Amino acid sequence: MLQTLDKEARLTEEAHRLYGLLKSVSKDKNAKWTYEDCLAAAPYTLSINRFKKEQNAVILAHSYTTPDLVYGVADFRGDSYELALKARETKADVIVFAGVWFMAETAKILNPEKKVLIPAGRAGCTLADAITGEEVKKLRAQHPGVPALCYINSLAEVKAQCDACVTSGNVFDIAQKMPGNELIFVPDLLMAQNLEAELVRRGTPKKIIAAGGSCYVHGHYRPEDVQKLRAEHAGIKVVAHPECPIEVCRLCDYMGSTKGMSAYVAASADKCFGMLTEFGLVNRLEAEHPDKTFIWPCGICEYMKRNTLANTLEALIDPRPEQVVEMEPALAAAAKKSIDKMFELAQ
Ligand code: 13P
Ligand code: SF4
Repeated sequence: MLQTLDKEARLTEEAHRLYGLLKSVSKDKNAKWTYEDCLAAAPYTLSINRFKKEQNAVILAHSYTTPDLVYGVADFRGDSYELALKARETKADVIVFAGVWFMAETAKILNPEKKVLIPAGRAGCTLADAITGEEVKKLRAQHPGVPALCYINSLAEVKAQCDACVTSGNVFDIAQKMPGNELIFVPDLLMAQNLEAELVRRGTPKKIIAAGGSCYVHGHYRPEDVQKLRAEHAGIKVVAHPECPIEVCRLCDYMGSTKGMSAYVAASADKCFGMLTEFGLVNRLEAEHPDKTFIWPCGICEYMKRNTLANTLEALIDPRPEQVVEMEPALAAAAKKSIDKMFELAQ
């Protein structure tokens, strides 16, 4: 009886902790997180946080994963660059990466001796799946002597074929530092257009030779989305990720990485923002700036949302084979060179 009461008290306390963090956060377009939602999450967050301690594990959660993970159990939350840095620095024995496959793979490349787990299993990404290492090799052979950058949203076999990898937060600065006036950039055709335009704006133009595909979340935004936001919300500031089409980015008040958009919102005295990005970032900003309003036309990455509290617990207790990241050492070593180059050039 006493034990049951004690358990109930711990669950109630945990539900209150979660509700304190999530009460200003949208669950979907029409509803916020409720105390009942938090009570349902509490047994998972309590167990995950206990197993995490027992195993000396660290949980890294991309901002696009759901808020119960981001605020309930993650030790670090951020964009792909911030989390790659945390993966490189961590002293933990186990890394649980709540994100998509290329992110967990990057963590494993940086920590070949550690156990790296991804709750979502082999969750893809339409960019990372748009080009193979073999295709990049052929492209480079067609343009001998031209340096090649790959977006971090790429597989290890693609990174292994490139001189450096980049993230949305450092792509413009690193591209500017590359020698010559031509540059191969894979696998984001839309970011390539934004990159070419930004280099012109900075007075360091380069011809970008691009190959790959686009993000199915950011690539679908249209100029009409920006026009509609401005027509319906006087004074709104519209921000977009550089994975969006250039015609959209040109109409926005700010274009930048997940971290860049967060910093823009934090530094702004404005109160209303149109978010042309993934819902998870909207959730983070709602949690961290309850005094501001975020209008979000739509855009959910189903790959990121495959990470749940239930499969995070499963990965910690008894991971399925697809939740454990394994890498061939020679491939990991070749891919690591381009990731290390990014850290060096991003300084
Ligand atoms: P960030 O580098 O901004 O985290 O972007 C990663 C991503 O997948 C965006 O769609
Ligand atoms: Fe890939 Fe787009 Fe999802 Fe980011 S939002 S992980 S780029 S599919």
